[in-house]
Amino acid sequence: MSKQRSRFLGDRSATYLKVVDEDTDEIVSIARWHYYPNGYSYTDGIPWEIHSPVEGQSFPLGMNIELHNFILSERDAERKNWMEKGAPCWILMHLVTRPSQRGRGAAGMLIDWGVEKARKDGVPAYLEASAMGRPIYEKHEFSQIGDLIQLDLRPFGVDMDIVMAKMGVFPKN
Ligand SMILES: CC(C)(COP(=O)(O)OP(=O)(O)OC[C@H]1O[C@@H](n2cnc3c(N)ncnc32)[C@H](O)[C@@H]1OP(=O)(O)O)[C@@H](O)C(=O)NCCC(=O)NCCS
Repeated sequence: MSKQRSRFLGDRSATYLKVVDEDTDEIVSIARWHYYPNGYSYTDGIPWEIHSPVEGQSFPLGMNIELHNFILSERDAERKNWMEKGAPCWILMHLVTRPSQRGRGAAGMLIDWGVEKARKDGVPAYLEASAMGRPIYEKHEFSQIGDLIQLDLRPFGVDMDIVMAKMGVFPKN
């Protein structure tokens, strides 16, 4: 939690967004977009993404930290192979809608926010889509770039592969 707080306050690349239901004041959907004026740097970015356990603290209870760190490290390391090196871009790092509130357009609003920023800046917007997330990104102008990322999770105790699509929206001429 303290790491999240220091990122919220200190990581100037990050913008945190939320959609709130005005009738209930309930948060419906959240997103974290980043702007990287000099391109994405794995060295600078990955320490924020991976989880470092704190001695004597079990939070978050039951989290498979090795699995979490493996997925995010592999995903972010791959960026050097498909995002233009040193070139400015927006990246959507995180997007989730409360299960009971899905299908109301909340995530679409948060995707469009970043796409609009990228368009105004004249730079690409990037993300890696899960199987569940991919259709919504396609509806919001993203298209797949290169091959899928496929990771075998079995060494971490999960009997499946995870597949992610590298996706982008590029400025129109
Ligand atoms: C992917 C996710 C963020 C979409 O959130 P959302 O707020 O439901 O998205 P939206 O309502 O903007 O759009 C969902 C689309 O599915 C349609 N839909 C219809 N019924 C739906 C339902 N019960 N649940 C979800 N979507 C539904 C919507 O109509 C919409 O399509 P449209 O744009 O053609 O109208 C959400 O399902 C989620 O949090 N999934 C788990 C986390 C995840 O996969 N995040 C993405 C990581 S890449």
